[in-house]
Amino acid sequence: MDFLTGSTHLHVTTWVVAIILFLIAALASKSKGLHMVLRLFYILIIITGGALFIEAMDYGQGMNYGIKFLLGILVIGMMEMILVRKAKNKPTTVFWILFVIFLFAVLYYGFKLPMGQSFLA
Ligand code: HEM
Repeated sequence: MDFLTGSTHLHVTTWVVAIILFLIAALASKSKGLHMVLRLFYILIIITGGALFIEAMDYGQGMNYGIKFLLGILVIGMMEMILVRKAKNKPTTVFWILFVIFLFAVLYYGFKLPMGQSFLA
């Protein structure tokens, strides 16, 4: 499993791709196909993040990793809510605000935690 936990690059790649796909899908008038691909990336984010999470149990920072895990899932949840509500022509403003808040929070935690880039530590 070293390819999953040897560095954070794979995890970073999956969420960068997901956010780009999400933004394109959110701005496009028809986004069904992109939304399907984006859902595949949710799974890849969770697998790569989950592998790092298991690895992280050696670091004695369970609480911070727990928050990181939760925030990551919440960012995915907000992307999903925005696209589903957009498809149903329902308002999405609240979910955009929450998306931005959770995204900043998860980036902060990710870059603070000890693996990979830790320039906020
Ligand atoms: C869109 C959602 C997500 C974003 C934007 C995100 C962002 C990040 C960032 C910025 C890092 C630091 C990378 C580095 O330092 O090189 C990171 C690492 C990590 N992520 Fe995520 N993540 C997301 C979802 C998840 C999920 C769902 C999980 C858990 C299943 C998770 C678990 C982890 C773990 C355990 C680390 C290692 C932290 C460390 O010690 O540096 N992430 N993530």
